[in-house]
Amino acid sequence: MDYITKYAPFLVKYSHVVAALFLGYLAAKYLNNTRIQSLSADDEHSRAKRRSGKPKDDENWVNGGQQLAKANPAVNNEEEYQEADHDCLEHEDKTPQIPYKGDNYPEEEMLERSRRFYEEMNKRRSIRLFSDRDVSLEVIKNVIKTAGTSPSGAHTEPWTFVVVRDTRVKRELREIIEDEERMNYQRRMGDKWLNDLKKLKTTWQKPYLETVPYIIIIFKQVHSISADGQKKPHYYSEISVSISAGILLASIQNAGLVTLISTPLNCGPKLRELLKRPPNEKVMMLLPIGYPTDDVTVPDLKRKPLDKIMFLV
Ligand SMILES: Cc1cc2nc3c(=O)[nH]c(=O)nc-3n(C[C@H](O)[C@H](O)[C@H](O)COP(=O)(O)O)c2cc1C
Repeated sequence: MDYITKYAPFLVKYSHVVAALFLGYLAAKYLNNTRIQSLSADDEHSRAKRRSGKPKDDENWVNGGQQLAKANPAVNNEEEYQEADHDCLEHEDKTPQIPYKGDNYPEEEMLERSRRFYEEMNKRRSIRLFSDRDVSLEVIKNVIKTAGTSPSGAHTEPWTFVVVRDTRVKRELREIIEDEERMNYQRRMGDKWLNDLKKLKTTWQKPYLETVPYIIIIFKQVHSISADGQKKPHYYSEISVSISAGILLASIQNAGLVTLISTPLNCGPKLRELLKRPPNEKVMMLLPIGYPTDDVTVPDLKRKPLDKIMFLV
């Protein structure tokens, strides 16, 4: 005590203040601990509430989905958002982080690669006359594997690629498509649409569907079912599948094959039935893949120049 009085007389003089500060510190620490415990209890309570039944509309994640859908008409697919009835906060994420291994080219090489890739892709054309020459199944597997590298909303990978090579299935597929396309061309599409298609020389007839070696039908999975039987929402599934289709087109071009994106109107349910796909999958596109016939021609279409599609700000 003498020692404190000699070397820190202010501590003795203000001992009541020091004592009050110390007590205040203890009280604050106690209150903080109580708050943390109560927050975890609330959290457990809300988890239990979510587990006990379908979440209410006012829960954040449902509102989040609806607001997103409202804000962006491109994703305004109620089915995709309202089916979001699984408990996404239930499990802690255990995904490990790994180093990213990308390539790093010198600038000149980068320029050359980007130019060459553009030139290759600029040769891509939609082909409507296919030869019956066979294509290796390994190549088809590789191009689909490449399409499967596509990014997707929350990594949901909402795509299914059905590859048809069976002659009987191709014949049935042609029948379904030509039946609908005949009605589309004769009744549903209207003069303006038919006029816009004139330069492409398309008709309701698709004989290549029986002779081409492979036809890929791309399905969009609106949702999936997780291991515990819950519906798992697929965010932005349409955009994700379309990006994956773009990568598929680039990969087909890179392999030296040709294709045609087609979107036969009104054929979805029948094609889904023929190909035995579940109801959560919707037909998005159909792509015959193969070689062109030797005498094939394509319309001389011009692509927009860079200054019409890119704006540097
Ligand atoms: C979403 C989409 C749907 C298409 N649907 C059809 C179709 O049903 N039938 C068809 O012959 N071509 C179809 N096409 C191909 C376009 O007509 C073709 O891409 C366009 O005329 C440009 O020609 P290019 O692909 O040779 O550059 C479609 C293309 C896209 C992107």
